[in-house]
Amino acid sequence: MNEEQRLASQQVNQPKQEKDYSKYFERVFTAPSLKDAKKRGKEEVKYHKDFAIDEQFRGMGQGRKFYIRTYGCQMNEHDTEVMAGIFMQLGYEPTEQIEEADVVLLNTCAIRENAENKVFGELGFLVKYKRKNPEMLIGVCGCMSQEESVVNKILKTYQHVDMVFGTHNIHRLPHILKEAYMSKEMVVEVWSKEGDVIENLPKKRIGSIKAWVNIMYGCDKFCTYCIVPYTRGKERSRRPEEIIQEVRELAAQGYKEIMLLGQNVNAYGKDFTDIDYRLGDLMDELRKIDIPRIRFTTSHPRDFDDHLIEVLAKKGNLVEHIHLPVQSGSNDILKIMARKYTREHFLNLVEKIKEAIPDVALSTDIIVGYPNETEEQFQETLNLYREVGFEMAFTYIYSPREGTPAAKMVDNVPEEVKKERLQRLNAVVAEFSTNALKKYEGQVVEVLVEGSSKKRDDVLAGYTRRNKLVNFAGPKELVGQIVKVKIMEAKSYSLRGEFVEVVKQTEVHA
Ligand code: 5AD
Ligand code: SF4
Repeated sequence: MNEEQRLASQQVNQPKQEKDYSKYFERVFTAPSLKDAKKRGKEEVKYHKDFAIDEQFRGMGQGRKFYIRTYGCQMNEHDTEVMAGIFMQLGYEPTEQIEEADVVLLNTCAIRENAENKVFGELGFLVKYKRKNPEMLIGVCGCMSQEESVVNKILKTYQHVDMVFGTHNIHRLPHILKEAYMSKEMVVEVWSKEGDVIENLPKKRIGSIKAWVNIMYGCDKFCTYCIVPYTRGKERSRRPEEIIQEVRELAAQGYKEIMLLGQNVNAYGKDFTDIDYRLGDLMDELRKIDIPRIRFTTSHPRDFDDHLIEVLAKKGNLVEHIHLPVQSGSNDILKIMARKYTREHFLNLVEKIKEAIPDVALSTDIIVGYPNETEEQFQETLNLYREVGFEMAFTYIYSPREGTPAAKMVDNVPEEVKKERLQRLNAVVAEFSTNALKKYEGQVVEVLVEGSSKKRDDVLAGYTRRNKLVNFAGPKELVGQIVKVKIMEAKSYSLRGEFVEVVKQTEVHA
């Protein structure tokens, strides 16, 4: 039975379908253009709540399994939850084994070259599964799909790929799958211009303790090194009432922690034309919801305003951890990165935050080896790190991204120098992380227990409000609860403690 017959047979008892399927089966080929992706139109964002699986696609996944491998950031992880939700509405079942899967999707990240190389490696590896099971559909989605160079490479070199789609048309997954089943050629549907905001997409969340909630999409900052404004489109905020409703529902379902997501959450609300409503206002509303913890990521120092600091200082379910990427401590480098703030502005912001929230834990992102970065400029980054006293950092060697302004810069910093700078920075990061953890020895902290440690079953693991990983011995029943743990020892990147007691829900906000 071919695909058309199989689908037709499933429709026997369904209401009569329209006969003309051509609008679903036309050959799809929309390739991306970074030049178009750069455009920022003035047109208003449209919000939709009308997502539904079209009758045409009902039962498409019956007896079939899907597997999604996710690369990159939490936004991508959350997109995977949405795609999994759509797959399940189509009747597919999830599987953890690639060899069992009928559809394999790689949800990719474009942020650095090595992230992309991993995906190309995996794509090469998938040939062997496809040979064993020629019916298997292989798809590439996520940020890499938004790059024309990537799509060209896939078309040329990875012809076992059946479909490529981007970050703006995830909701089109049923159409794209259908097309891929019908077509002998690779289905490519990538939109360079961001789509509207679709509110009611299904989600199959991977956990029952922590949940991701998008508050905005896209980024308009155009830092000179960054591909994100091209792969994720212009800034579009979700309406506050939708976010508040989603968080309320998650609280009612028993989730204990919310991570609010956006590429630049501090720009939240800037795009609203009818209301004056920013991240501080949203956090002030979310603070009133009965859920133990709310975090957000990721911040941009430029738009981090005083009202937000004021609201975060009220604490309650708003935790004392802020991830605040600085990227560099040198004014010259910050300028060519187009970060649009200075070292002094950043230090001033940190001072304000610390004044309002004295026990705050700050973490950051840093790029070393920017084109033509001098030793002195790198030293300024080390000095800034020490001056702020960050407790953690994600550190990277600059990776040129085709299509971004920085990729065109001539670079005189040898690779070995970049690597050596990264090592020196990492030594400082380790020193500060260990010192920050040492302060907890002897203290009792609140831990949201997430599961057992990767190494030992009887050891539970979870995070404090300030995002410190804690391991302690205890029964599995504690998973999902907030407990008090006495810290016995600080390790390099985690704490070891002893269970004290379960924290009552009513005490959590104290
Ligand atoms: N090269 C290296 N690191 C990058 N980042 C973003 N773009 C690049 C790039 N081209 C880092 C930044 C950002 C984090 C998510 O990734 O530090 O904050
Ligand atoms: Fe990677 Fe950025 Fe895309 Fe996230 S948004 S997957 S970090 S390129």
